[in-house]
Amino acid sequence: MNSDVSADLQPMPSAAPPHADQVEPAEGSEGADPRLPVDRGKCPFDPPAEYKRLRDEDPVSRLAFPDGSAGWLVSRYAEVRSLLADPRTSSQLGFGLSPVRELPPEAQEELMRVRPGQFIRMDPPEHTRYRRLLTGQFTVRRMNALTPRIEQIVADHLDAMGKMARPVDLVENFALPVPSLVICELLGVPYTDRDLFQRLSRALLSMTTDGPTLVRVRGELMQYMLDLVRAKRLQPGDDLLSGLIAREDPEGALTDEELVSIGNLLLIAGHETTANMLALGTLALLEHPAQLAALRADPSMIDRAVEELLRYLTIVQFGVVRTTAEDVEVGGRCIRAGQPVVASLAAANRDPQHFPDPDALDLSRQYSPHLAFGHGVHQCLGQQLARVEMKAGFTALLGRFPSLRLAVPLEQVRMRDDMFIYGVHELPVTWDGEQE
Ligand code: HEM
Repeated sequence: MNSDVSADLQPMPSAAPPHADQVEPAEGSEGADPRLPVDRGKCPFDPPAEYKRLRDEDPVSRLAFPDGSAGWLVSRYAEVRSLLADPRTSSQLGFGLSPVRELPPEAQEELMRVRPGQFIRMDPPEHTRYRRLLTGQFTVRRMNALTPRIEQIVADHLDAMGKMARPVDLVENFALPVPSLVICELLGVPYTDRDLFQRLSRALLSMTTDGPTLVRVRGELMQYMLDLVRAKRLQPGDDLLSGLIAREDPEGALTDEELVSIGNLLLIAGHETTANMLALGTLALLEHPAQLAALRADPSMIDRAVEELLRYLTIVQFGVVRTTAEDVEVGGRCIRAGQPVVASLAAANRDPQHFPDPDALDLSRQYSPHLAFGHGVHQCLGQQLARVEMKAGFTALLGRFPSLRLAVPLEQVRMRDDMFIYGVHELPVTWDGEQE
């Protein structure tokens, strides 16, 4: 996620590191440091194999960022967790420090500034104020109360799918529209604008979007949200954005600029991630028939199944980035102040020291404190919403289409290797029975 939006769930942060002028090559980094591993092997669900070696031999390893700065890559569960919980790390990073996207200096500069309200890129205590404003809106209780409406949205889309000629693209007709509509209703964003915000969000989250386009797209999204915020000031609705506008705060009301950042972050984070979990999760289930059969036989496994899919797939595929604000010792190595560090959630979630047989998808796994939602103060704000959507989505999809299967060979499914949030671009599926 990144809009300050796409920044947001990627190792492609956005503001200058706290000690940008002090970013020095990592110690002993005379040779060329390796780039972030991105090449997956044959199994589209497994992270790059290089992570195995790194976890075993070099769990806090040197890493080259495209802008020339040297930093670090943390790949073991214990170290990733401790880094993300460490108050000496900062989320105020620069786009230029993305380990996977190269940007021209003008674009970097434009994208570096942390905008008011862009709390995913703030540190406490500034971060805490925004987080507090929003936490109450995303509690387990609030999200459970939304379940009937989410189930209705899921059922409506499955009904429509049942009437379509097969094969049907599950991304376009189910995985993407369901979370998009849910977050639109929650925020008070007109769903009729989905073509616009889905297109902008795709561009923000693509690794191949060039710098000038990125700046333009971000501007468009900010203007879109600004118009919406202004309209809501005049005509409030019964939605989260109107609630934020109306709330009394001893620290002062939220400005338009703050509301734009918050709105865009929630809008993009709220649909792109869950959409990809729904589609990629379905593909993973179809490719693991024994696991799928077990879930069909015992739908009460769904809670555990969702956690296991989150762990196994870890769609925030390049991890999250922090900068050390002081010298920090991690896994026996000292990372000097001002250096960027990628915490690989995908590598940590396959760590055999934490998860027995980590490369197996095992929906009955008993205890799985995975890191797919991150860890520490920035741990995903929308995780309860995502869980409710996934539970409702997988349960109804599998119940409705007992013979659901892939309509093309697996090799033909286009994987989102080119996007910050992993998943599939399309998922053609089919099933038995008459068209309704
Ligand atoms: C399966 C779906 C999702 C996954 C895998 C996911 C993953 C993540 C991760 C890894 C982070 C931490 C970023 C960091 O440490 O820098 C995060 C933060 C965040 N997520 Fe999610 N997310 C999901 C769904 C959602 C949804 C549905 C929403 C919206 C309602 C949302 C809103 C946010 C926000 C606002 C933050 C920033 C929190 C902060 O900085 O305090 N996410 N998410």
